[in-house]
Amino acid sequence: MKQIISRLAAFLVSACMAASIAAGQTSSAAVDAEGHQWWQHAVFYEIYPRSFADSNNDGVGDLKGITLKLDYLKDLGVDAIWISPCFPSPQVDFGYDVSDYENIDPMYGTLADFDVLASEAKKRDIHIILDFVVNHSSDQHKWFLDSKSSLTSAHRDWYIWRDGKGPGEPPNNWVSTFGGSAWKLDPATNQYYYHYFYAEQPDLNWRNPAVKDAMFDVERWWYKRGVAGFRLDAVDTLFEDPDLHDNAILGPGKNAFGDPIEQENYNKRLPEVHDVLRGLRKVADEYGAVLIGETWTSNIAELNAYYGRGNNELHLPMDFLFTTVDKLSPVEFRKQIASVDAASGWPTFVISNHDKVRSYDRYGDGQHNDQIAKLMAALYLTLRGSPIMYYGEEIGMKTTPPTRKEDVKDPIGRTGWPDEKGRDGERTPMQWDSTENAGFSKGTPWLPVPPTYRTHNVADESKDPNSVLEFYKKVLKLRHTNRALLDGNYTAINESDANVLSYLRVYKDHGVVVALNMSGTPRKMSLELKRNGFTSAKRLLATEKSEAQGDEVSLEPYGVFIGELTK
Ligand code: GLC
Repeated sequence: MKQIISRLAAFLVSACMAASIAAGQTSSAAVDAEGHQWWQHAVFYEIYPRSFADSNNDGVGDLKGITLKLDYLKDLGVDAIWISPCFPSPQVDFGYDVSDYENIDPMYGTLADFDVLASEAKKRDIHIILDFVVNHSSDQHKWFLDSKSSLTSAHRDWYIWRDGKGPGEPPNNWVSTFGGSAWKLDPATNQYYYHYFYAEQPDLNWRNPAVKDAMFDVERWWYKRGVAGFRLDAVDTLFEDPDLHDNAILGPGKNAFGDPIEQENYNKRLPEVHDVLRGLRKVADEYGAVLIGETWTSNIAELNAYYGRGNNELHLPMDFLFTTVDKLSPVEFRKQIASVDAASGWPTFVISNHDKVRSYDRYGDGQHNDQIAKLMAALYLTLRGSPIMYYGEEIGMKTTPPTRKEDVKDPIGRTGWPDEKGRDGERTPMQWDSTENAGFSKGTPWLPVPPTYRTHNVADESKDPNSVLEFYKKVLKLRHTNRALLDGNYTAINESDANVLSYLRVYKDHGVVVALNMSGTPRKMSLELKRNGFTSAKRLLATEKSEAQGDEVSLEPYGVFIGELTK
């Protein structure tokens, strides 16, 4: 009887898996004995599509360009690509103003190009994650066009409309994070609509069940097309206080846009956000998909809240607290890693993205930037959790902001100049080789290619065994194949060392030690192996002059040592 039941169960499991794979969906089956799912062993890679690869030489990257680079990504060790918004958009915020959630912007190609990308990615076992802009649409979306058309239009309540406080006075004091009041008067109906970002990005009204249904349908639509999950944009700001209480003003200072600095208690991280996340997750679970969240949390309690009680919200809330450690400080990193490692869900680590200064400059000292880029790779790619890389990080791309206001493309760089130069600097074209325009495009790139393409590009670095790129490949290969790096626990060692960050990753009998010299002078130290049940460490990957003998490791300035532990 027992045998029959277990055969029946096995049959049902395989039938369900076959059905879901036939529908182009990702299986949520565990990939190891620990019950981990694919995304827990995956390395994610963010592609900013405008800047990755331009197949039609119009100066802007496109989906065909991404398809052409899939072999590169596979060889690098990438398991999933997150493509920043590639949907139809007036491009006021470069795609984060979506005018149609279920299509591809002609500048990036067609739905057919997307399908080719999806099937080619699948052949290489690369998952596709799209960027779901849930907080707002474009003001050119048909929902908003209808919404603003009259006080009684079918979509009026799909956005946040309110009367002003008095003539010329917005409904309250909330400011847009991109400058100025967060309210814009629409003269046709004499009401204001709310926009946390640009005025061209009106906030959707998630209190309206019709909005929820429509957005959940969008989610399903893409899963059915083979998408393995979403990065959810700006989830902190999904809800606003319905009574529109003014935010408190934090002191007399002003931000780069000349606005008062507010404590955003009434328009950020409202508890209702979690209901929506649970709803999006329920749909994701139907398809075995993964949800990554753009979560600007200021402490671990806030991060934990995003996993949800019982882990029923985001699978991977991005931990930007890690990027707030803006210097090579073992003490600070240790503190941050320990708290994330103890968080209630699977950790995810990010060091760069399209809104932040690149890690290359954040940590670089101007002299040892390449060594430091390798050190950072050895750090965040060997932690327990899923890393999210940013294109170009693996070749040591440098933030290259415009030097003149007239060259700025990102609107916040124009309104906030010179204090806020915008985000062009971290969005420059990918540096593929040392030919003109770094091999990104034969046309004029939408943003200038940084001069560093001559020394930092994929083609040349692929030929140099000591390049940043080759180091990334080695670390990524190790993390994909080493049991302890995939599944091992994290244990900090030498916890009071102010120069070297070191830790063990241990899974059953397998152990790995990672020692990272965050200082510019050579260091020697004990690896505390005996105390942890091991005797020595055999080199798996290390920088040239870093090595271990028995329990002692010697590290060159900014040196890395990763070793297999033996009993
Ligand atoms: C997110 C995106 C950012 C965009 C904003 C508004 O923060 O990462 O690039 O400008 O949302 O959509």
